[in-house]
Amino acid sequence: MIPGGMVGNPRPMGGIWKFQTLSGPGHPGFMSKSSLRRRTHPFMSAIPYAKDVASDIIARHDSRPELLVQMLHEFLEHFSWISEDAIRQLAEELNLSRADVHGVVSFYHDFRTTPPGKHVVKICQAEACQAMGSKELTAHAESVLGMNMNESTGDLTLEPVYCMGNCACSPTVVVDGDTYGRVDNRRFDEIVETMKGGV
Ligand code: FES
Repeated sequence: MIPGGMVGNPRPMGGIWKFQTLSGPGHPGFMSKSSLRRRTHPFMSAIPYAKDVASDIIARHDSRPELLVQMLHEFLEHFSWISEDAIRQLAEELNLSRADVHGVVSFYHDFRTTPPGKHVVKICQAEACQAMGSKELTAHAESVLGMNMNESTGDLTLEPVYCMGNCACSPTVVVDGDTYGRVDNRRFDEIVETMKGGV
């Protein structure tokens, strides 16, 4: 059984908006950041694991194992990745086995288990975006960035996301927590060129 076995709705997370000029409120593919949760650091770089912070997150969820998914989202938001230290502490404080926690972490695409690069680029791989060319866009992105999906360097992480609720403006790309719609190869290149200014 998967504790807290709800299907997690992927949420944008991460740093302060860096690439401001390519899509704005007037653009049909733009999604406002106003609904995003707190931003604590400018990019997606991992911050050191802290047991006291982790304990606070767990305590805020009353140490209820059925809320593990929600806790993992908060861990991800705070630390940017789910480390072995995090898995160990969650297992101990929730009275679960490490295999239980590992099982949940590996079940959801959101929960990356390696530190992210300074910038995180996500390309939606869910059905609506696939129908509008996200597979082709992914191949283009891998070529332009010189890396495969799910790879990270110190500067950059490229990873999939599975529906950001932006299906009407497919295909969707998320850069450092901000969502772009109707991204074609040309537009992706523009985003990358702007991003390089922050790498
Ligand atoms: S399928 Fe990509 S945003 Fe919904």
